Amino acid sequence: MISGCAIVAGVVGRPIAHSLSPQIHNAWLEAAGVDGVYVPFAPDDRGFERLVEGFRGGAIRGLNVTLPFKEAALAISSQPSEAAQAAGAANVLVFEPDGRIVADNTDGVGLLRAFRAQAPQWDVAAGPVAVLGAGGAARGAVAALIAAGAPEVRVVNRTLAKAETLVGMLGPKARALPWSRAADAFGEATAVINATSGGLDGADGFDIPLAATPEACVVMDMVYKPLATGLLKAARALGRPTVDGLEMLIGQAVPSFEAFFGVSPPAGVDVRGLALKALGEKTA
Ligand code: ATR
Repeated sequence: MISGCAIVAGVVGRPIAHSLSPQIHNAWLEAAGVDGVYVPFAPDDRGFERLVEGFRGGAIRGLNVTLPFKEAALAISSQPSEAAQAAGAANVLVFEPDGRIVADNTDGVGLLRAFRAQAPQWDVAAGPVAVLGAGGAARGAVAALIAAGAPEVRVVNRTLAKAETLVGMLGPKARALPWSRAADAFGEATAVINATSGGLDGADGFDIPLAATPEACVVMDMVYKPLATGLLKAARALGRPTVDGLEMLIGQAVPSFEAFFGVSPPAGVDVRGLALKALGEKTA
């Protein structure tokens, strides 16, 4: 039921047509019996600020923000959380009635929730973690891993200078390595996380020396289209435990939902099944 008092939230990004967030949030809203709705927005580059300014003061309760607006979302906020500042980007904006725009970044929470769900044996504090990539997604992951207690995060990137810049922002627990030293980065790693924008299926010519990882090393890919990326398939072939990007997407949606609608998502809703169906993946 959507009444005249419905809480409105949404997701802003471009492109947005294939976003799974409306399905996930609306399924939770319906199951929880919350008088609310979650809708998509796709402004052009310059339209993002106008859209957000229009909502200032609480015209809607909040927005999830996805590419390419996450950095702009942090910049427009008057009250960014520590996580958003550390990530240099926001994926949640909440519009307070007094005009404040509160920003948060729940991608790190989503990453850790995904590990808890699919690799519960993994302990963030047990050893070094290797992160592939040095863009916005990598920065958020590295910041969240350090905040959660990782003793060392090894940032491996095609362009070493970008990894060095990222590491410079995040302090002594982060180390930068070029792709040619990926095997060194993987030694003793408790997890390898792909935060590049590609699925790293080998077609790009990059050798991902997963055999250099310890047997218990968890391999995670933030990419979820396709769900079984080249990296995850290679990891499974070696017998490594894996975590997929869809679980992270669902994981970041949980604290977003709580921020917008004031209640936790109800248990027992198969949002993963819904998302798999929307992605055209088998639910088994
Ligand atoms: P995002 O905000 O999604 O992280 P980004 O800031 O554009 O996106 O960063 C993309 C990351 O993926 C970068 O680390 C990029 O490597 P470079 O810094 O060398 O450009 C990495 N990347 C993109 N395509 C890649 C590929 N085919 N192989 C390896 N790394 C790739």
